Amino acid sequence: MTASSFAGDLSGMSDPHGMLTPEMSGRASSPVLVGRDEQMAALEAAFASVRQGGPSAVLLGGEAGVGKSRLVSEFSRTVTSAGARVLTGGCLELGTDGLPFAPFTAVLRDLVHEMGADAVASMLPGRTTRGLARLLPELGEPDTGGDPAEARARLFEEVLSVLEHLTRHSPVVLVIEDAHWADRSSRDLLTFLIGNQRALSGLLIVVTFRSDELHRTHPLRPLLASLDRIAWVERVELPRLTRHDTGELAIRILGRQPASDLADALYHRSEGNPLFVETLLCCDGELSPELPESLRDLLLDSVRRLPEDTQEVLRIASAEGETTGHALLGAVSGLDDAALTRALRPAVIANVLHAKGGGYAFRHELIREAVHEDLLPGEHGRLHSRFAEAIDADPTLVPPGRAAIEMAHHWHSAHDAAWALIAAWQAAAQAGRAVAAAERLSLLARVLELWDQVPDAAERIGADQTHVLEEATSAAHDAGEFERGIALATSALKKLDPATEPVRVAKLLGNRSHFRMRLGRKDFGHDLEEALTYVPADVSPATRVEILLTLAHCTPKVANERTYVEEALTLARQLGDEGQEANALLTLAMFDTDPGQQAEPGSAPLELIAQARAMAERQGADDVLLKAAVNETHLLEGAGEHELAAEAARRAIASADAQLLSRTSGSLLAVNQTEPLWALGRWDEALKVANGAMDLYLAPGPVYRAMLQVFAGCILLARGDQAATAQTVLAARDALRSALYEDQHQLPLARLEVLLALDKEGPAAAIAAMSRAMERFDLSGGSPRYAWPVVRTVAEKLGAFGPAQRAFQLTFAAADAHAAHLLAAFPGPDGTGPEGTGPDGTGPDGTGGEAAPLLAAWDQATAAWASLSEPHPLAQALLHAAEAALARGDREGAAMRLQRAAPLAAGLGAHPLGEQIAILARRGRIRLAPHGDASADQPPGDPDAGGGELGLTGRELEVLRLVAAGRSNREIAAELFISPKTASVHVSNILGKLGVASRGEAAAKAHALRLFDPISTA
Ligand SMILES: Nc1ncnc2c1ncn2[C@@H]1O[C@H](COP(=O)(O)OP(=O)(O)O)[C@@H](O)[C@H]1O
Ligand SMILES: [Mg+2]
Repeated sequence: MTASSFAGDLSGMSDPHGMLTPEMSGRASSPVLVGRDEQMAALEAAFASVRQGGPSAVLLGGEAGVGKSRLVSEFSRTVTSAGARVLTGGCLELGTDGLPFAPFTAVLRDLVHEMGADAVASMLPGRTTRGLARLLPELGEPDTGGDPAEARARLFEEVLSVLEHLTRHSPVVLVIEDAHWADRSSRDLLTFLIGNQRALSGLLIVVTFRSDELHRTHPLRPLLASLDRIAWVERVELPRLTRHDTGELAIRILGRQPASDLADALYHRSEGNPLFVETLLCCDGELSPELPESLRDLLLDSVRRLPEDTQEVLRIASAEGETTGHALLGAVSGLDDAALTRALRPAVIANVLHAKGGGYAFRHELIREAVHEDLLPGEHGRLHSRFAEAIDADPTLVPPGRAAIEMAHHWHSAHDAAWALIAAWQAAAQAGRAVAAAERLSLLARVLELWDQVPDAAERIGADQTHVLEEATSAAHDAGEFERGIALATSALKKLDPATEPVRVAKLLGNRSHFRMRLGRKDFGHDLEEALTYVPADVSPATRVEILLTLAHCTPKVANERTYVEEALTLARQLGDEGQEANALLTLAMFDTDPGQQAEPGSAPLELIAQARAMAERQGADDVLLKAAVNETHLLEGAGEHELAAEAARRAIASADAQLLSRTSGSLLAVNQTEPLWALGRWDEALKVANGAMDLYLAPGPVYRAMLQVFAGCILLARGDQAATAQTVLAARDALRSALYEDQHQLPLARLEVLLALDKEGPAAAIAAMSRAMERFDLSGGSPRYAWPVVRTVAEKLGAFGPAQRAFQLTFAAADAHAAHLLAAFPGPDGTGPEGTGPDGTGPDGTGGEAAPLLAAWDQATAAWASLSEPHPLAQALLHAAEAALARGDREGAAMRLQRAAPLAAGLGAHPLGEQIAILARRGRIRLAPHGDASADQPPGDPDAGGGELGLTGRELEVLRLVAAGRSNREIAAELFISPKTASVHVSNILGKLGVASRGEAAAKAHALRLFDPISTA
């Protein structure tokens, strides 16, 4: 395709007869391009860089009529003669109905026309056009079904693949015109192409848009902003012409020098906008005698000079958007070919309209808009109805695949509720086939909007309102519109009775839960649990399996998760559904690993993954295969099997590539390949994989991207490039800001931030970075796989800087030991703790096996702070040390340390710390004397304890407080450093003394007596 191809996308239509040709146009335009040297140079430089193999894209902005299209077409002519191929697609203004992928459909259609379908097919992976047939129905049966997100990813890849093939023969310039009207699907595809431009050399992308129409919430704004961040994207702004160039333009249009007062008036009136210069000079080459008030009137003026029947046809054409097919115009106007041509000729000669593809376009959109706005209200509606009826009677009047959306647009503009509803419903189905989820959603929203105005809507479309709501919910899912999705699913649920429609209800609940989860809401589990109650295995086993597997991934209660996945596995086996069985096995494998998220080769979890893989292979279930690879590589890496992990990831990426999904699912695998390569010290390879994955797709998802950046950053820093590291840190932090918390994403970044701060600004900054990380993340609660490196980094690095840093180091080391102690409580695979510990993580004697080294560690930290004379951290360390002493059953030791800590906290006015000290003292039955000596014993029935008159000992009172707070014996035991058995003895004694039969009654009595209200401290 060349510069002469048109944006109107009409080439797929039946051949027009008796059409006017471009040569017939009159000349109210300049034959040469005036000015614009700078902008032309920018385009040419971009083209030169593309010829040298680099990626390049130009975003060309300017107000309407300023000359964007003209500049691009002059540029296209130059590069075409230099051997380049120019592909042009324009975005269309179809009111609010986006025509999905409009500019790309135009480009592809032209290509198919020029080269034939077979040649296009040969450029596609798999050599089939079934994917592209989603956009071009003339290519035959499109692919249908399958996961829409995957289908869309494939479609994008196919477009990229076509471009890649074309660039092998000559440089290619892809021009997307008027992007301010781009539908969401086109915006997404454009982003994808520009983001992936590095994957192909020899492609220049030029995008034009009206910069003056981008109001604050215009959807193109965020797109431009994100494209601006790409190194090879350049913005070019096209300003109005200067006074000098305006004069030059007048000379070129008139073919002679205008009188000087005319030139002045021209500049004054047009303000240097070439479209207005042309219009002002009008057909007879003179400035219009009476100057109209507004620019819109000025544009209309050129139309009003035309014969009435010409104006009539122009009014009709104005209702059809940028370009109107000749035959369609004939059908709507009721004129035969000859009469139509006769009526149009004056408009073409006056350069109001010009021939374009198989139809006519207004010389400029602003003229069309002015004519259309000038229609009377009744006329407006009638015209749109006529278009809709004509297309309905003969869909070949518009290009293939476009009838439905055109009719939806015209009936809607005609305000005919019934037909608008029907047409929107049909167009939504078409948008679904074209994997244009956003457009499908907006069309379905229109159906719902019109529903109440059309009494027999359900009969007319053969679907009830609930069904439409369900469809819209699924479109919201595919379009990523989660808030809308929640609202739609909720409306649908209100209309359904779970007793009669359990499966539909369960599916909607499943959807709603998914939306909530994606929005980061915590309450997404309820819907799933409810859904489960509606679909017992005998109602719909398949739905049940689906819900069970989702539940298994998200509930916080480990015990339940396991039963969910086990049930799913059994059901999937009964159903003979190997795909879901494989999914269940993969989930089960993750449960069978320990908190370190690791599995040795040959271990049970890896066996399960291997089984799942074999099944998925038999099924051809690509998505399950990818998931298997992701889980396997993650677990191997966790076990320190770097070589195996890297190799498994490499193999899986190679197969993801073959399936064209490398830019989507493949990016997680790239993370899992980079991580082991980095650990192995194969840094160049690691960088190559990471950068390659980031280049491939503009958005491998912010989270994966951030992880890749962190690995790259670690390497950059280790190699001494602070500035580059700082940039990756910033980018990664930005990307993770709104991500749901997961330690595997956040903690490696935190560690890098600490290291960078240390390198760049010294220990104080590193400590500050570390404390930020500790404040934000629970370093002892998560997986040691990610938490420990952070803690250790600091502990290791800070020793070298002097006594203050050493104190910190020891504090961290102690915290590290503390974390180890907590981790010892994680159940092992057989349900018990690590060797030598009981199931509750305490030592064999119930006193805490790790407590001795922990105490020593905290004592060292204490000494370090003491020698620095820093009372606050000293008191904190003492508190921790006392806790460690208590855990060993050493109450004397604890008392001694707390007695030192308490006055320090008090002296500082550090009340929260003082309170913590007091609470620990109470738990340990330690009395803190105001003057310094602490006693480790508290007499039974101490009246200070507040329960003396009930005959309760201080200890029993403490136990009662916890009973009243709803704690179990085990929890009480843990909190008071006693065994569960002792706790249960205390509880029976308390029940006896209070004369009550149950814990509940005891709690009620305690509350009634206001025993703990406010908490009385010993
Ligand atoms: N630099 C120029 N030299 C000559 N004619 C121009 C120039 N810029 C614009 N024009 C003419 O002005 C009219 C409007 O320009 P166009 O490129 O369609 O505007 P835009 O695409 O920015 O809305 C066209 O007829 C075009 O030929
Ligand atoms: Mg234009």
